[in-house]
Amino acid sequence: MNTGRIQTSIAVTLLSLSFTVHSEELRARAIFEEKCVLCHGYEGKGDGRMQKLLDPPPSNFHISELSLDSMVEIITNGGESVGRSISMPPWSSELTELEIEMVANYVFGLRNH
Ligand code: HEC
Repeated sequence: MNTGRIQTSIAVTLLSLSFTVHSEELRARAIFEEKCVLCHGYEGKGDGRMQKLLDPPPSNFHISELSLDSMVEIITNGGESVGRSISMPPWSSELTELEIEMVANYVFGLRNH
């Protein structure tokens, strides 16, 4: 057994794992900036430029109590599909399932920040 080699390979695995997580977060942030800030605002506080035109207003993710699954649902199919505002568009034709999962994780992670 070569413990040095095992340690190195563990280190490499952890490094590439953290790189994957980090790059997913960057990708999610890029999607958010491109498609969501207009309504939800740069910090996800529901204060984007469209805010004044929308009633109900865009959600503030920092105080959201929605589960991650429900977020995926509303992002995928839009507000209307879950009995909420039609102003929240469906994204399934714009984003892949993986992208929706990533951006849902991103906005879910904003709460309590
Ligand atoms: C045209 C404006 C608009 C855009 C663009 C938009 N949203 Fe929304 N979103 C809304 C509105 C308005 C609501 C609140 C709906 C309601 O309360 O009935 C909402 C609600 C949500 C909710 C539910 C949160 C909660 O706590 O109830 C999530 C999650 C969400 N949006 C994610 C996103 C994501 C992710 C994007 C970008 C891919 C996005 N939205 C783009 C307007 C928008």
